[in-house]
Amino acid sequence: MGYCGSVSTRSSSNSSCFIATATYGSEYEKEVVLFRLYRDIVLNKSYLGKKLITLYYKISPPIAKMISKNSLLKRYSLKLLSRMLNRIKRDSRLQKKPSQITIQYNSACNLKCKLCFVSPDEVAENKRINQIKLFDFLKRYNNYQTIDWIIWTGDGELFLEDEFFDSINKICEDYPNIIHTLITNGTIDKLNKLRYPEQIYLNVSLDGIKEIHEDNRGEGSFDKTINFLQHASKINFKKVTCRLIATKKSLINIDDYVKLVKDIDKGFAIYIQDLIDPCKTNVNIEDYYIGFDEIEKVAKIDNSIVLQKKNPIFKEISLHHNGIYNCFQAVTKIGDYDSNIKDIIANYNKSFLNCKKCRSSCK
Ligand SMILES: C[S@@+](CC[C@H](N)C(=O)[O-])C[C@H]1O[C@@H](n2cnc3c(N)ncnc32)[C@H](O)[C@@H]1O
Ligand code: SF4
Repeated sequence: MGYCGSVSTRSSSNSSCFIATATYGSEYEKEVVLFRLYRDIVLNKSYLGKKLITLYYKISPPIAKMISKNSLLKRYSLKLLSRMLNRIKRDSRLQKKPSQITIQYNSACNLKCKLCFVSPDEVAENKRINQIKLFDFLKRYNNYQTIDWIIWTGDGELFLEDEFFDSINKICEDYPNIIHTLITNGTIDKLNKLRYPEQIYLNVSLDGIKEIHEDNRGEGSFDKTINFLQHASKINFKKVTCRLIATKKSLINIDDYVKLVKDIDKGFAIYIQDLIDPCKTNVNIEDYYIGFDEIEKVAKIDNSIVLQKKNPIFKEISLHHNGIYNCFQAVTKIGDYDSNIKDIIANYNKSFLNCKKCRSSCK
């Protein structure tokens, strides 16, 4: 995706590895990333491991403080952690074969949202995934590792592309067990072109009540999206979710928002996504940004509200017009469309050690 390159402002204090961060100097160092992965993927899966994590978080902040102030202690800690890392690196439980794929399909868009995190430079020309390469890749990947979920999104709007409907219809037909999530702004109603709605989770961006939504997406966008949602309610989609960007403005009227969505369809879900720094320089982030604690409080008002996960890392591989990446941020490339799938998965498993600082919330 074409981001501005800035980092999400969400607090991650409760998920940092204090001692490792103090020892290696930054939470973005690859060694620290590996310790976090080990915590989430291995320790967090067992009773004893969970107890160990709780104990660690209790005792580690003062130790980390001492380490950061004392170079002798830092050297000693470095020695100890390096030994631990050598063992962790050999742990087969850290090797994954993702069954989920994200497709960053295109970059053209019909809207110019004020808060959009996509860099305008990136969308100047429509960069679209080649259909033949996509089909071939999915076939080869699925032979190696069964795909169970595909998330279609991009730097732009999927529903602008007629070829997208051909692609998804064919994939639904060829792989009836794959579930698809489509993320759309809901302003282009071509829902009738989707031939297999029962295999599709529809995610429609709705940023608030009319005034708030149009403050971001422009005049006339709200009614189009509401009409789209009303139409979706009449079709047999597996699940429909409205995606709300959490801002100071959008969360004030959350009760009205929930009512708006439920009036369209009681079965629709709501997904609150954290605000990522927008790319447009004329937006003052302080007018919009709201802390995660506030978002968590608001999310409790209705049990159909789902909050964005804190650790989305290590789940998917991501297809872009110019190759295969280890996550949707498209920072670390792990192969090309014609690469051997075994190599792609091997690169995937190594890739998080080389992750550069990005604005994702996988901390
Ligand atoms: C980049 S858009 C692409 C799909 C489609 N054009 C849309 O708007 O739904 C993917 C998702 O990112 C969300 N999004 C865009 N800018 C955002 C920001 N600054 N912070 C958080 N989410 C954002 C959109 O609301 C949408 O749900
Ligand atoms: S519709 Fe989606 S991709 Fe297009 S400008 Fe808005 S948030 Fe960005």
